[in-house]
Amino acid sequence: MSSYVYFRQQFIPLAEAKIGIMTNSLHYGTAVFEGIRGNWSSEQRQIYLFRLEEHYQRMHQGCQVLNINLAHTIDELCQITIELVKKCGFQEDIYIRPLAYKSSEALGVRLHNLEDDFLILAMPWGRYLDVDKARCAVSSWRCPKEIPRAKLSGLYINNALAKTEAIGNGFDEAIMLTLDGYVAEGSGENIFLVINGKLVTPASYNSILMGITRDTTIKLAKNELGIETIERPIERTELYNADECFLTGTAANITPVAEIDRCKIGNGEIGDITSKLQQLYSGVIRGNNPKYLNWCTAAYQK
Ligand SMILES: Cc1ncc(COP(=O)(O)O)c(C=O)c1O
Repeated sequence: MSSYVYFRQQFIPLAEAKIGIMTNSLHYGTAVFEGIRGNWSSEQRQIYLFRLEEHYQRMHQGCQVLNINLAHTIDELCQITIELVKKCGFQEDIYIRPLAYKSSEALGVRLHNLEDDFLILAMPWGRYLDVDKARCAVSSWRCPKEIPRAKLSGLYINNALAKTEAIGNGFDEAIMLTLDGYVAEGSGENIFLVINGKLVTPASYNSILMGITRDTTIKLAKNELGIETIERPIERTELYNADECFLTGTAANITPVAEIDRCKIGNGEIGDITSKLQQLYSGVIRGNNPKYLNWCTAAYQK
């Protein structure tokens, strides 16, 4: 199976897609990206693209902020993605990376008077945090985000610093705080706590990306388990006293957190609510739950 990309309006092999070293976005992070999962169902021999439209809606919003003219409608972007996945033909879980970027080979910090381009690549990718339960550390790097609602490339430098700091200190993932010290999110995931049988997660104004997996989790918890989610600022000490904790993200799915700063969360095992949500989520994203099939786009023809 070879990897193709959609690049300069064509499908070409990954190895042939190149950009010049003066490309503006390489220097200043002037780009918007998305991360979309294609989940392989071996029984159905199908790849389901999860909440495809919502990812492109978020990308359109990001492009609006960065003055990037994304020359495709959301519908077209979905169709191009399906075409690409078909062309690649992977039979395993994949990750799809659309990128809209300032493509002019021109230096200078700005967003105006630059050309825009768009690419999509698809690649096999299994578990993002390759552990059953993650050990996390609160990062010394804070979330400075003023524009948290989209995946703007340049904003990710803080997340990269936080992740590498956590790995260097022997942990699996970093938990970043807001500038005023409240819990924000992981370097590539949103965070949830279970406190007294309810889910608690940072609110939209706590420097978080409004994750699509976060939204899915809130809906599944409510509809399938009757569990309410409270969106509010979370103090750092609440992390250590939570009954359960987990991370959510397109790449990471739902990943339980066993420890934070070497302090066990609950008994350090995967909690009941976390485990139920994990099972529900993994069924939903692989097209096994008829109630949520409208979130799944089948890439391969039957
Ligand atoms: C910083 C950050 N927060 C949260 C998320 C989760 O967002 P989503 O569930 O839409 O993938 C991501 C995903 O990449 C992320 O990078």
